[in-house]
Amino acid sequence: MKIAVLAGDGIGPEIIAQAIRVLDALKADGMSIELEHGLIGGCAVDATGEPYPEVTHQLVSNADAVLLGSVGGPQYDTLPRPQRPERGLLAIRKALNLFANLRPAILYPELANASSLKPEVVAGLDIMIVRELTGDIYFGEPRGIEQRDGQRVGFNTMIYSEAEISRIAHVAFQAAAKRNQKLCSVDKMNVLECTQLWRDVVIEVSKEYPQVTLSHMLVDNAAMQLVRDPKQFDVIVTGNMFGDILSDEASMLTGSIGMLPSASLDQNNKGLYEPIHGSAPDIAGKDIANPLATILSVAMMLRYTFDQEEAALRIETAVQKVLQQGLRTSDIAAPGEQAIGTQAMGDAVLSHL
Ligand code: NAD
Ligand code: IPM
Ligand code: MN
Repeated sequence: MKIAVLAGDGIGPEIIAQAIRVLDALKADGMSIELEHGLIGGCAVDATGEPYPEVTHQLVSNADAVLLGSVGGPQYDTLPRPQRPERGLLAIRKALNLFANLRPAILYPELANASSLKPEVVAGLDIMIVRELTGDIYFGEPRGIEQRDGQRVGFNTMIYSEAEISRIAHVAFQAAAKRNQKLCSVDKMNVLECTQLWRDVVIEVSKEYPQVTLSHMLVDNAAMQLVRDPKQFDVIVTGNMFGDILSDEASMLTGSIGMLPSASLDQNNKGLYEPIHGSAPDIAGKDIANPLATILSVAMMLRYTFDQEEAALRIETAVQKVLQQGLRTSDIAAPGEQAIGTQAMGDAVLSHL
């Protein structure tokens, strides 16, 4: 298993360090794991002037999977857009054709009190957000800021082809078929033509999955329903931008954004694995970031790219045992509860592994 590791910026190197300890432990137990490190995001801009340098592209192209920390930071927010760290992330997703982003929101029962919602609303929560990742307004042209009639205008293009919609719909239907046969497609068809096509194509694809019950919801309602009654959902499929927003919202159902892993897959399940959160500049360098989303992303990597279900479960069980033991980083600690740091959380996961 050749894994390219891109730690990135902010808390990226701190959380990736703990995930690497987990991989090293699996390696010590006989798994054939080879790690190679590369630069992406702000650290790549500092070293090479580009957020996704060609050497990084070569590295990830030759790897079976990519483990990524996070990119970005306020020091880069005024750079010309092509040099911003976030562009590096978009570039790697596009270059590797990682169109299917799986963002599972699972509440570990031990964290029911860490969620900002009432425990009974989130108890037993297990939903999967399938987010399209290489299209939509993120990549649509034309885009820009320009002068028109003596003032600046900013514009982006929301665009989806039916091929793009249909391939992500297939991923979502297949995910639903393996779970509880329930899929909710989220769009804004009452206003946006682009998402009318989304709904039409999803309905067409649904004919191939008669065992899955398909429903549709407008995105504003979905945002509300996610906090009103999140357990009504099983698999949600949506476009790039709505999926970005709804998955951050869903993370709070699980206690903290520091708990949510993700897989970004191409057609062949080659994948990039990363926590859904960002570089958290406000807490970087303090050894307080929660490394569990990144460690759980390693579990997803073993499951989806390497088909090593047993090893994936071993990691997830170790995480659960740490939580059962009462160990918490500050983002998931109850008020007044003693919190441990990033490295200590890594120690605890390793001890249960
Ligand atoms: P963020 O996700 O970095 O942080 C939001 C809040 O959640 C912050 O208060 C942060 O401290 C907290 N948080 C995030 N991860 C945490 C963890 N593991 N443990 C504990 N607390 C955690 O979002 P932001 O502040 O909007 O963005 C910061 C930078 O990250 C920006 O430059 C943004 O573009 C970038 N970003 C990158 C990615 C990525 O690399 N995939 C994702 C989102 C944002
Ligand atoms: C995410 C992030 C990225 C996105 C940014 C940093 C480009 O928010 O992975 O959720 O919007 O996709
Ligand atoms: Mn996001």
